[in-house]
Amino acid sequence: MLGIVFTEFMEMVEEQFSADVLDDVLESSNLSSDGIFTSVGYYDHQDMVRMVVALSKRVDVPVDDLIEAFGRHLFGILIGKYPALKGDYTNTLDFLESVDSTVHIQVLKLYPNAELPKFGCERLGPGHLKMHYSSKRPFSLLALGLIKGCGDYFGNALEVSFESSQSGEYHMTDFDIRQIDE
Ligand code: HEM
Repeated sequence: MLGIVFTEFMEMVEEQFSADVLDDVLESSNLSSDGIFTSVGYYDHQDMVRMVVALSKRVDVPVDDLIEAFGRHLFGILIGKYPALKGDYTNTLDFLESVDSTVHIQVLKLYPNAELPKFGCERLGPGHLKMHYSSKRPFSLLALGLIKGCGDYFGNALEVSFESSQSGEYHMTDFDIRQIDE
């Protein structure tokens, strides 16, 4: 997993909890990278899982809540870092529909080693989008947070429900997203 995801996670832990909490998380996670990350380096995605699990124990917040909150925070960071990816989009659902075919394709050009999920989209109505997540990595709640962060960014109120399943080594989640201010 790309280093920026780790460095931003560590920054968020320090800001929202404290530098001591971050130190404890890094010490107790048994990271393969020894806790040294650069934003353009590449690291085992299991290290992210290990850190979130350690943080969950340290601050007594469920893992799923932490990953979702991190995704929500991360969207603002990513769009701030790559503002051109916003394109001409002015609302959340149109942007979300472009993530697989445009945004992540551009990410892959910048970082050819990037390991990205696949998203299949189906528009069920003007304010209603189905998004199907599929990945070998267990980050569907990161996707949920990113979807909500996207809503925050475009100023749209969203209602999101989802159902997850697993098939072989693939983690899959169907997101049902309604933009309720349209
Ligand atoms: C400006 C917008 C975005 C940018 C620049 C971006 C970029 C990235 C980058 C750099 C990674 C890490 C790749 C790696 O570790 O190798 C990533 C992973 C990921 N992205 Fe995006 N992303 C964006 C928007 C979104 C949105 C809106 C969603 C959700 C619908 C999403 C879902 C994910 C997920 C779930 C992963 C984790 C990898 C996995 O699940 O397999 N991204 N993205």
